[in-house]
Amino acid sequence: MNNNPIGVFDSGVGGLSVLLEIKKLLPNESSIFVADQAYVPYGAKTKEELIDRVGRILGFFKEKNVKAVVFACNTATVYTIDEMRKKFEFPIIGTVPVVKTIANLSKSGKTAVFSTPATAKSPYLQELIDKFASNVSVECVGGSNLEELVENGEIDSYETIEILKKHLLPLVKNRVDAIALGCTHYPFLREEIEKIVGPEVMIVDSGGAVARRLKQILTAENLLSNQNGSNLYYTTGNVEKFERVSGKLLGEKIEAEHISL
Ligand code: DGL
Repeated sequence: MNNNPIGVFDSGVGGLSVLLEIKKLLPNESSIFVADQAYVPYGAKTKEELIDRVGRILGFFKEKNVKAVVFACNTATVYTIDEMRKKFEFPIIGTVPVVKTIANLSKSGKTAVFSTPATAKSPYLQELIDKFASNVSVECVGGSNLEELVENGEIDSYETIEILKKHLLPLVKNRVDAIALGCTHYPFLREEIEKIVGPEVMIVDSGGAVARRLKQILTAENLLSNQNGSNLYYTTGNVEKFERVSGKLLGEKIEAEHISL
């Protein structure tokens, strides 16, 4: 048993889609969420820059005595998780597109991963596809500017819907019937995505799988908490903006603190 918090981070508010699933599955766990909004989008950073940012965030979590860390960000996972596992001792759980799930679900044999352009072109994602989805075709589609729109709380604006249509309608035309959301900002766009692709196309995000993996690790290492969980929120960016947008996305009042990392 261990009542220390879990560190969860993303470049911005997208990681809240993963935190939601963790809170649902593990209500006793406390968390510290860091949105690295002074440096969003991570998709535009080099691997070296990402290693620097994630190293600082994990250093902050270490000071806070977290018992485990969840990378609630695909981009940070695919470019930095291997290095971070060498540097830090706590268990680290990453977020990656659920390629095995879409491969299993697809009937047409045509699937897609919809992510940031950085994740779409990462060798890490290609390895996952080769390993877990070699029986289907997987189209990797990099969405333009969507994480910025979600950062502004624009989950159903005209611009957001037009960008989604541009990326998703060609997939429907190609008979893709299972799409993995490979950016943690995108689950907040699920409603609009589903309207565009229609009921025949399955949309799967990674949040549930990440929460289940976290539970497995905490259970195996005897680290589950026996108290009621509480959640702290930090941003390296603008506190008022984080509180406003995350409050809208989560449907509850959120109070955050600023940190410089
Ligand atoms: N939410 C992050 C992810 O899952 C990416 C957003 C960004 O590029 O900053 O990849």
